[in-house]
Amino acid sequence: MTPQPLDTAATEALLAFWRDAGVDACYLEEPVDRTVFVAPPVAQSVQRATASITALHGGMVGADAVGEARRLAAAASTLDELAEAIAAFEGCPLRAMGAKQAVFARGNPKGSVLLIGEAPGETEDLRGQPFVGQAGQLLDRMLAAAGLTDQAFITNTVFWKTPGGRPPTPQEQAACAPFLERALVLMKPKALLLLGAASAKAVLQTNDGIMKTRGQWREWRLDDGATSVPAMATLHPAFLLRQPQAKRVAWADMLSLAARLDTAEVEQRA
Ligand code: URA
Repeated sequence: MTPQPLDTAATEALLAFWRDAGVDACYLEEPVDRTVFVAPPVAQSVQRATASITALHGGMVGADAVGEARRLAAAASTLDELAEAIAAFEGCPLRAMGAKQAVFARGNPKGSVLLIGEAPGETEDLRGQPFVGQAGQLLDRMLAAAGLTDQAFITNTVFWKTPGGRPPTPQEQAACAPFLERALVLMKPKALLLLGAASAKAVLQTNDGIMKTRGQWREWRLDDGATSVPAMATLHPAFLLRQPQAKRVAWADMLSLAARLDTAEVEQRA
């Protein structure tokens, strides 16, 4: 193909056409395996140092990203500072895969329940808040019906949208995990609600499918030995939009959460 001189207006019109047609990611001629962790670009001197450390310990380059995430997360002493630390973090590969901005959390940071979804979608990427698209609206209706709107603080296992809305990989989740753990420590919720398989697998460290794990109370215990919280997985609201008949079991999970929070409140008052 002979390259033509760039016509900005025509290019913008073509991009707008693709966007309206639902195209949300660009692909190269050759396939790229996005499930493989790719380290963010770093200076050559850092690359040399990393290469020798990696050679010494036989570790993954992704471990550097996790270390940096831990350092930034530990320095945050409020959830607002944590949001800033996430926005400054360059170690999650998703950042370079078309996301417009970091998406951290919304809701009541002093609430009693932390909800953890999978990854922000297109609408969340545009608005900078989690669960504000159709799935989020369904989630909000369920929380309202269970009387939990004011108690909920909502985030995701990763803080950047994934290409084409695919589930986040374990490597992407690992790079973001120190921020999620810090959010738990700073917020101190009474319970966690894990929305969907990718969230349940990452937090509960299980390979069991969501149909097996949902509705059961487990414990999320951090390595600090001091932090643990009851956690329950449920079906993702986007799944409920596709399979409305599954709303019945998701509603049962929501009621189980409300009952658990009631019990925790009664115990605290006693
Ligand atoms: N799905 C998720 O898992 N998280 C969001 O924020 C939006 C949709």
